[in-house]
Formats: sequence, C-alpha cells, structure tokens
Amino acid sequence: MNLPLSKEELKNAVDQFGTPLYVYDESSLNERCNRLRQLFSGLPVSWLYAMKANDNPHLLEIISRNGFGLDTVSYEEVLLGLGFTDDPTDIFYTENNMTDDEMNRAIESGVVLNIGSYSRLEAFCRHPDAESCCIRVNPAIGDGHHAKVVTGNAESKFGIRKDLIGKCFELAESHGVRIEGLHVHIGSGIKDPSNMYEAIKMMLELANGYEALEYINFGGGLPVSYTPGEKEFDLAEFEKITRPALESFLEKRGGNFRFYFEPGRWIIAPAGVLLTRVNTVKDQGSKSFLGTDTGFHHLLRPALYDAYHHITNISKSEDQGSRKYDIAGNICESGDLIGVDRNMPESEIGDLLAILDSGAYGMTMASHYNRRTLPAEILKEESGEFRKIRERISPEEQVRKHLKECNYPDFITSIIEP
Ligand code: LLP
Repeated sequence: MNLPLSKEELKNAVDQFGTPLYVYDESSLNERCNRLRQLFSGLPVSWLYAMKANDNPHLLEIISRNGFGLDTVSYEEVLLGLGFTDDPTDIFYTENNMTDDEMNRAIESGVVLNIGSYSRLEAFCRHPDAESCCIRVNPAIGDGHHAKVVTGNAESKFGIRKDLIGKCFELAESHGVRIEGLHVHIGSGIKDPSNMYEAIKMMLELANGYEALEYINFGGGLPVSYTPGEKEFDLAEFEKITRPALESFLEKRGGNFRFYFEPGRWIIAPAGVLLTRVNTVKDQGSKSFLGTDTGFHHLLRPALYDAYHHITNISKSEDQGSRKYDIAGNICESGDLIGVDRNMPESEIGDLLAILDSGAYGMTMASHYNRRTLPAEILKEESGEFRKIRERISPEEQVRKHLKECNYPDFITSIIEP
C-alpha cells in the first residue's frame, strides 16, 4: 500500500486543517515528473500534463517547473494554463465540440489547436488568422479502465476517422493552412498497453505519408495501480517497446520532428490522498457502514466508474482487520459508497480514513451537489511544511455564493444574525 505521507503526518495535517481534506505531496510529484522526463533520453520527446486531472494552480506551477507543457480541453483550461508558460505553443488545446467563440479566442491566444472533427477543421480553415493546427485521429483502437473513458474506438465521439485524414490535408492546403501535427489518445487508465503500442505504430505509419508534419502527439492514458498488490505500469518496458519504433521513424524522417505524450493520472494520482473523518457507525442488514464527511461530490470515481480507491484507517496502527465495512459518503443517494466490503480494523466514530491515489480526477470532478462545500487542499512542500492551497469555505459562504450566482437577494446574513 502506497501512502504518500506517513499516518502521523496525515493526522497532523488534519489537526491543522480539518476534514475533508485533500493532501498532496510535492516530493512525490517532483519525483514522478522526473521519472517521465528521464524516459527517451536523446530523443526529441516532450511532455505535456493533462491538467483536467488536477488543475490546482499551485500544482500546475510545480509541474510546469518540471518542464511540462499543458494539455487542455476547454477554453477555460487554456486561460488557466496560459499563466504557467511564457510560450503559448507549449499548450495544446484538444477541442471537443468547440464553439466558434471558443475557437476565435483560442486562435487569438496563440495556443496549438488540436482539431477533432472535419467540420471544425472547415471552420478553422475559414478563419482569417488560421495558420496551422494539429488534428486528432480516431485510430479505431480504444482502451481504458472503464467503458466511459475509452476514446479511441471507432464508435467514440472523439477524433477524425482515418479515411478522412487525406481529405483534411486537402482541405487545409486549399486554404493555405498547415496541418503541423497528428494527435491520438486511445483512452484513460489503459488496461492493455499493447493497444497503446499498436496505436503508436499506426500513427507513425500514417505520418509517413505526410512530409510537412512536424510532430505526433501520442496522448495520455498511462495507468496507475489502485489496488494493493496490483502490478505497477512498467515505464522501462514502455520505453523499451516504443523507442525502436520512434528511432526508426526519425532515421527515415530526419529534420526537427518531435513526439509528445500528455499523461495526467500517472503524474498526480498517487501524489494525493483524501482524508475524511468517520462520524457514523451502523450495522444494517448484512452490512456494517462507516459514514464519513465526504462523498461522491468530492471523489466521484467510485460512483461513476466503480473505481477502486484503497482506504486505510490512519487512526489505527494496523492496516487490515477482521471487520468488513462499506465506507459511505454523506450525499443523499444510496450509490454514494466510496468503498464496499473493505477489510479494516474495528473502527469507531472520530477515526480518520485516508482514501488513496485521489490526486487525479478527484478535486477537478468535485461538485456542490446537495449544496455542499468542497474540501480544503494542502500541499506538503519539499521542506516538510504544509501549505494551504485551497481555502475551506464556510456553509454560509457557500450558500451566499449560490444566491449571488442565481442573482437572488442574500438572506443569509439575516438568518445567522437575526
Ligand atoms: N489527453 C486527452 C486528450 C484526454 O482526453 C485525457 C483524459 C488525457 C490526455 C489524460 O489521460 P490520463 O493520462 O489522465 O489517463 N475522469 C476519468 C478520466 C477521464 C480522462 C479524460 N481524458 C477518471 O477519473 O478515471
């Protein structure tokens, strides 16, 4: 089991900042960024971070300090990302059903537009300032930890069909627009890496037909192991298998060709943990529940994808125990279970639970469902100090914000200070 911080450190964090609390570890984050950057040494490979995994600006700062550009998927992410680089071409904007307004703004910002449909390419080519772009290919090869996150299959909404790629180049040429790169992303949390290798090979072959191309972006999807005992994704093997294909492509191609990868999960998931406090213990039918002060409004993955996150009781010294618990959230839906049938030590009200590997797609997918507030976030810096990187707002502030956004008079003050 992989806790990024010791149980003592996590308990100290709660003493200072309360629960629910996301805690991130800067040294794990730096170490993971380094491990990726050391791959493919000597080859023209650049790394982008898929900021949808976690876009806390303090974390973006650390990741960009490690030499990562950014993969963005909305104009909002573009705007946020622009604060972390001096060169907008370090930012890929992988559009998905983009509006004309979003396209116009993105072109003006100077980021790289990665276009995922023929009709959007038509609109792009008509824009007077359009010079060059990347296009996203649908490789008809998909993979992912759950059907909802497989993107490369032929039936998916993403990318441009392979048989339309030739037409895309003709269209661009007829408007004096350059297609400078090809992109592929087969899915997230890849289960069978051979699918990724197949897609990489396919893209290299496809790129052979287009001399003007300057790069291929192979997307993200590198998996992490969430279940104790599960084998870690083998980075060395990933390099060993892909390097020869990249090298032989470059030998033929020469020039300034470049490759990109854009992982999110692999970088940040294991560097983050969500801490919650048990406030209810109950036996119901054949079940024993530990009720907590968090839920799917803070970590949606178990409810949305049946995703496994290991949960450990950090108030107890032992990790395993004789009791089987369902760990329940505080959202008013019976599906709000963070873990089911977990072996844990006998637990009690007041105990602290750590939900592991929650750094990716935790906070970015959080919501205010049931009108609830979000967790605070803290960073354990390299120095060992904790730094608060997101304030916990009060229930009053939360409701006040809601009323303001709904353009409704603020009656909170009169309720709490009658
Ligand atoms: N590039 C593109 C174009 C993507 O759509 C994604 C993820 C990535 C890169 C990064 O993929 P990663 O390396 O993180 O696997 N909410 C889901 C994951 C959705 C991923 C969406 N796209 C989850 O919690 O598992």
